[in-house]
Amino acid sequence: MPEPAISSSRPRVLSGMRPTGKLHLGNYMGALKNWVKLQGQYECYFFIADWHALTSDYADPSQIAPNTMGVILDYLAAGLDPEKSVLFQQSRVLQHAELNLLLGMITPISWLERVPSYKEQQENLTNKDLSNIGFLGYPLLMASDILMYQPQFVPVGHDQTAHVELTREVARRFNQFYKLDGREVLPEPQVLLTPSPKLPGTDGRKMSKSYGNTIQLSDTEPEVRKKLKTMVTDPARVRRTDPGDPDKCPVGDLHKVFSTPETLAKVYDGCRSAGIGCIECKSWAADALVQLLQPIQDRRATFSESQAEEILEAGSNRARARAEQTMQEVRAAMQLVRVTEQPRKPVAIGGRLG
Ligand code: TRP
Ligand code: SF4
Repeated sequence: MPEPAISSSRPRVLSGMRPTGKLHLGNYMGALKNWVKLQGQYECYFFIADWHALTSDYADPSQIAPNTMGVILDYLAAGLDPEKSVLFQQSRVLQHAELNLLLGMITPISWLERVPSYKEQQENLTNKDLSNIGFLGYPLLMASDILMYQPQFVPVGHDQTAHVELTREVARRFNQFYKLDGREVLPEPQVLLTPSPKLPGTDGRKMSKSYGNTIQLSDTEPEVRKKLKTMVTDPARVRRTDPGDPDKCPVGDLHKVFSTPETLAKVYDGCRSAGIGCIECKSWAADALVQLLQPIQDRRATFSESQAEEILEAGSNRARARAEQTMQEVRAAMQLVRVTEQPRKPVAIGGRLG
């Protein structure tokens, strides 16, 4: 398998997801689909942030490893290509922990406390004690993930922009304190905002794992059809003879994202005139979803778990080599090694501790 070049002239991007469970249509439309497109134009690093999952799931980590396997399979199924992108697992690249520690020296605690998701999550996830250092440090670990690859862009959704902003502030502070031969070591990355359509879940709220209202990338056709059958509709349409409005209906929103213009026209006409029933309308939405998911599931079936494991290991080796380049600059800039010294060579290629 030809390996993607570590250094290339294409601008670099990095992004990742926590392995919290099977990926769903919201993850696909909001991130993965866009990442797949980026593979042609950018030097891409996409990873699975398993340490980040541990910041909140530390009391029961049993699902993190199986979920990591599930997410790499979902990545591959969606079309991320290990020949084009470096696909890796955070915990296999120990350099992330080193950079996290070093950046911790220069990051004021108040910067982390004022990240909006910090207080929000602490208040919302009341079933978990989130007063641990790991959870407070979540955004700093994320800054380490990002700055490690010196990327120009971080393709994320709107919910992650505050984290990238913090990353920029940390980079700026690092560059003020430390330079290497007068040059800045950690460039400030920019958000590459993923345009994502409003995607409702089966209960009409935003599709999200925490609401249990998702359609998963691995859902079979019968599962998709069953989920659609119980999906909420325009509340004004109680009886078959009542006209409805697709603009006030979550099923209508699905049609807007996934159906052809012809089907969409039939939905608007039929719904507003009570010419179609919701059951029929939902079956058309299910058709569109099944059509979208089919090639994803076909591709998933071409990968075994052991192949996925090999891809993750090979990608992590590549990521580690690139990470080590940055760390040599960081260590030298922070005068942990004498600048005149030869940079340390990575040890034991192939081992996890390289
Ligand atoms: N916080 C991100 C999320 O929940 C996951 C993540 C961790 C990430 N490190 C990152 C995303 C670095 C982009 C870049 O989705
Ligand atoms: Fe919603 Fe379709 Fe029923 Fe109209 S016909 S209310 S768009 S499910």
